[in-house]
Amino acid sequence: MRLAVASDHGGFILKGEIIRFLQNNNIECKDFGTYSEESVDYPDFALAVAEAVAAGEFQLGIVCCGTGIGVSISANKVPGVRAALCHDTFSARMAREHNDANVLTLGQRVVGAGLALDIVKSFLEGGFDSGGRHSRRIAKMGGIEKKYCRK
Ligand code: RB5
Repeated sequence: MRLAVASDHGGFILKGEIIRFLQNNNIECKDFGTYSEESVDYPDFALAVAEAVAAGEFQLGIVCCGTGIGVSISANKVPGVRAALCHDTFSARMAREHNDANVLTLGQRVVGAGLALDIVKSFLEGGFDSGGRHSRRIAKMGGIEKKYCRK
């Protein structure tokens, strides 16, 4: 499994913790920045991960900011991306099982590193339950995307 990981300055420390966790567990990942705590704009980093995941270069993405909200909204603008903001392990597992989420977003100012890493673990361990109703709902989300996507 290859993961794309990024953050803005508000999620920079948490991104580092997540990358260390992935490396310690032999999970390949690419760091799309940011590379310091200097103030940056979160949509730029959410976009980098979202595009890499949507292009199929990475199976999953993780993006952190202060709250996880800005990067979640931004990533979800990219067709094919289903980004889930999860601050508990149950939501992280369900995001994969029911919503086939392909990007996890987290807020460094909301959860501590210990819980955040458990959330990452739950997200990675979860798998899409591709039974009828979930696939149908994912397809409907894709339909909404097509309806409003002008590209
Ligand atoms: C940056 O101060 C902060 O607004 C950002 O990290 C994030 O929380 C936005 O949603």
